[in-house]
Amino acid sequence: MTAPKPDEPRRAPNPLGLIGLQGLPAADIRAFLLAASSIAHRAPDQLSTLLRGRIVANLFFEDSTRTRTSFTIAARRLGADVVDLQGSSSSVNKGETLIDTARNVEAMGVSALVVRARQSGAASGIASAVTIPVINAGDGRHEHPTQGLLDAYTIAESFDRQETFDLSGLTVGIIGDVAASRVARSNIAGLTSLGAKVVCIGPPSLVPASLHSLGARVTHNLDESISEIDAVMMLRIQFERYDAQDKKEDAHRGNVIPSVREFREMFALTRERAARLKPGAIVMHPGPINRGLEMDGCVADGPRSVILRQVRNGIAVRMAVLARACGVG
Ligand code: CP
Repeated sequence: MTAPKPDEPRRAPNPLGLIGLQGLPAADIRAFLLAASSIAHRAPDQLSTLLRGRIVANLFFEDSTRTRTSFTIAARRLGADVVDLQGSSSSVNKGETLIDTARNVEAMGVSALVVRARQSGAASGIASAVTIPVINAGDGRHEHPTQGLLDAYTIAESFDRQETFDLSGLTVGIIGDVAASRVARSNIAGLTSLGAKVVCIGPPSLVPASLHSLGARVTHNLDESISEIDAVMMLRIQFERYDAQDKKEDAHRGNVIPSVREFREMFALTRERAARLKPGAIVMHPGPINRGLEMDGCVADGPRSVILRQVRNGIAVRMAVLARACGVG
């Protein structure tokens, strides 16, 4: 992304957009979750005309399976038309900036932009250059607010807190590559606002002490903490976000962790570790999962796993966010 030139207008982002959960009042986070809950309990025909005549544009400059599909389904269930622009086939490849791309799509009369990019701050930069609402679908290491909302929703659903979305008394463990994780940043903000305790666990290179300043506890020993956790959120190591000194796979991995075997021994959610979770504890993962690395396949598919419920809940959450963005929520 290129910042606007001095002669280009910068404006306050449209307040109906959603860039992040950091700094958002707890009441606003609860309002999104309550709206999603209301949507999840309404008949499809009560929802299917809410955004009729509107166009939602997905601008995805970085790969996605869940988020892009989920926003598309959410928009269509509300009656909107969807246009899908993927970075790999857009004029960004010819040197156009993300901001120029967004302005051109805005000029075609779309109602809201859903933006994913590998640059932290991209969604906010675009939101300052257009007049329509921008929804951040994940920007670099910064935030992934709808993932944070759907995770909070799934935890509340699992522990019967959907009336209030008050998560007091629950401890959520975020385990693995927290340093590179926008999901973790949105979750720490959202979950602590709703009253949960968040503990980040992993090696110091992936879970730095500075995460404490976001409101999370930091520890480097999963085995000592596992029995206190109500919801385990496993994260994959985002090898693509670390600079490789050379492009050989082993060297690339070596820049992040010294050895996959050692990482698994200390921090993976293996079958044996999962057996030591509290009764009633749930297992989460935002996806994509690297089976056999941060998590055993049998745990991902096991009885404690709510991973596919997270995906399902993402639709209602994104319907709520899109409806609000278009002024009908
Ligand atoms: N959770 C998530 O953001 O997945 P995708 O990268 O597939 O969208």
